Amino acid sequence: ENERAGSRLMWLLVPGNATAWCPLNCSCLRETGLVQCHFLTLQGIPREIPHWVQNLSITGRNLTTLQASSFINNGTQLSNLTTLLLTNNNVQTIRPLAFHQLPHLVTLDLSFNDLHSIAKDAFTGVAHLQVLRLNQAFREAEGTRLVDDQWLKNAKSLKALEVSGNGLQAFPAGLLKLDRLQVLNIRNNSIKLLDEATVSWLKHRNVWVYLSPNPLACDCKSREMIFWIRNTTQVLDSQSLRCFSPESLNGTHVLSVAPDALKCLNENLETASYVFFGIVLALIGLIFLMVLYLNRRGIKRWLNNFREACRDQMEGYHYRYEQDTDPRRSNATALPPDTP
Ligand SMILES: *[C@@H]1O[C@H](CO)[C@@H](O)[C@H](O)[C@H]1NC(C)=O
Ligand SMILES: *[C@@H]1O[C@H](CO)[C@@H](O)[C@H](O)[C@H]1NC(C)=O
Ligand SMILES: *[C@@H]1O[C@H](CO)[C@@H](O)[C@H](O)[C@H]1NC(C)=O
Ligand SMILES: *[C@@H]1O[C@H](CO)[C@@H](O)[C@H](O)[C@H]1NC(C)=O
Repeated sequence: ENERAGSRLMWLLVPGNATAWCPLNCSCLRETGLVQCHFLTLQGIPREIPHWVQNLSITGRNLTTLQASSFINNGTQLSNLTTLLLTNNNVQTIRPLAFHQLPHLVTLDLSFNDLHSIAKDAFTGVAHLQVLRLNQAFREAEGTRLVDDQWLKNAKSLKALEVSGNGLQAFPAGLLKLDRLQVLNIRNNSIKLLDEATVSWLKHRNVWVYLSPNPLACDCKSREMIFWIRNTTQVLDSQSLRCFSPESLNGTHVLSVAPDALKCLNENLETASYVFFGIVLALIGLIFLMVLYLNRRGIKRWLNNFREACRDQMEGYHYRYEQDTDPRRSNATALPPDTP
């Protein structure tokens, strides 16, 4: 209500010129198609944004939820809008079809929000969306899950994606489905490794990547990644990339790590444990042989005893067999006896 009254006030201040219309606390530049609404104390998205707007910036509000009706403006679509900045608005939830009233949207910046839920079809209806910025956009510890979520599949036209500062624990595998991606910013996350599949996809698609800083592991598992970083122009900030682990390489520039230094602690441990196991086996064998040697008399005696015992047994068996084959005792003459 307040806002509406304010709007009317603005209207009165610029009488007789409908093109000078501008919502309260916003600035409007018709020539450049720019409308900026900053740090308003009121909730929600201003209604009655001039229909000619191409570049809309709304920041510092408490929007909380974006939904299908959020951008219905005075009953119509904002069909000229190509760039929408919604940074710093405490956006938490994006509901289905939130942007479908903006059919020509190309660039969307949702950085510095508190997202924890994005509907699967949040980006349905914005077929031209090419640039999406989600820097520090997610609620703590939700980034890894959200960047990999279903909604990404409906943002197929993306050419540039920024997801820096979101605490991502790993490279989001879902990104590999973005067929048109050209630029990816994954700076300032907790990514240790780009695995072979990721590296080969980035190579194949020729995607430009911003990667630094991330706590990269420079070990045997990251050989593929590090050889690629050293040998490509695609990683635009490769100069400032540093190894985080292992401790011996902490702080070393990735571009100057020697290939021989890319080892795994486990790899060494494994070799060491095999050697140790071998030595133990050899010792046991040696002791066994010594025991045999020292006891050779006893063993000989034992073998003799055993042989005699066997012979006794065989004789007993032979005797019983003869008894069994007696035709008066059994018909099954061909079968050997099973139990005594
Ligand atoms: C809102 O729509 C009404 C009716 O279509 C129109 O008369 C009015 O000028 C519009 N307001 C703005 C700010 O475009
Ligand atoms: C933001 O909006 C939500 C719900 O619309 C409300 O619960 C919350 O208190 C608001 N926060 C601020 C800082 O105004
Ligand atoms: C990096 O991201 C964290 C949040 O994950 C943020 O607090 C910090 O300011 C960011 N640093 C830079 C240099 O952007
Ligand atoms: C480095 O790149 C060049 C040219 O792009 C290529 O011919 C070469 O095989 C690459 N070397 C490695 C180790 O990937």
